[in-house]
Amino acid sequence: MKNQDYLYLDHAASTPMRTSALEKYVEAESFGFANSSGGHKLSRDSKNLLEDSREKIAELFNAAPGEIIFTSGGTEADNWTIKSLFESKKPDDNLVTSNIEHEAVLASAEWVSINGYQTKYAKSDENGFVSKDEFLNQIDDNTKVASLMWGNNETGVIQPVKDVSKEIKSVNSSTLFHSDVVQGIISDSIDFHRNGIESAAISAHKIGGPKGVGAMFINNKYKLPSFLHGGKQELERRAGTVDVPGIAAFATALEEQQSRFDEEVGLMKNERTIF
Ligand SMILES: Cc1ncc(COP(=O)(O)O)c(C=O)c1O
Repeated sequence: MKNQDYLYLDHAASTPMRTSALEKYVEAESFGFANSSGGHKLSRDSKNLLEDSREKIAELFNAAPGEIIFTSGGTEADNWTIKSLFESKKPDDNLVTSNIEHEAVLASAEWVSINGYQTKYAKSDENGFVSKDEFLNQIDDNTKVASLMWGNNETGVIQPVKDVSKEIKSVNSSTLFHSDVVQGIISDSIDFHRNGIESAAISAHKIGGPKGVGAMFINNKYKLPSFLHGGKQELERRAGTVDVPGIAAFATALEEQQSRFDEEVGLMKNERTIF
């Protein structure tokens, strides 16, 4: 099937790559293909492209470059934050999340309970909305991580992340507040620090970037252990040869998506009204 033979309406599952991102990928794979950890010129070119991409993405979310760690996608970022803090061997530690999260969070929550810790779920109402009070009521002195998604991948319902973050520290000042913003960044421009988000999962293929590429935002005050063990890539926080062309394409897609935000969200709303 050629792409002009159908109307694609499954963008919440995945998007086609933007032309600008595809072109960036080809350019980066041609000139920035070398291993970004090496010492020769081509490696340095690749490393420069990687760090430029990190800076661009960090700026879009008002984060510091060192707070952006590239991953294989949203799933890895969700797994990383949620599981990392449950290595303490203190069985009273708990995780708070909601019953309407993406599988990446729900399955990580299951891992947390299988490993002997408590997991508590805030329940959504009949409209798929988790109220601020329902969420905050689950948090206690032993809550290590609280995770509430920004926008739901099935219903599109925007959850009260901003309201929760304003009060969460007064309930437990040491709870890390994570948000899966994989769908959220499609319809909202998100400043992580201003919105009190301490950790976030982002994915490239939902906004016109390549599949298998994403990022974790993690506030500088947290030093999570590396999720993958091996080389010292990604600021010594994630081992493995870095997919620089994919990341460069991700940064290009994200810049375009965030700069054409009003136009693209307006178009989506218009099409939703027509169909
Ligand atoms: C809300 C949400 N979180 C996480 C993910 C997983 O992201 P990825 O496909 O990049 O692993 C998705 C993708 O379906 C999603 O919609």
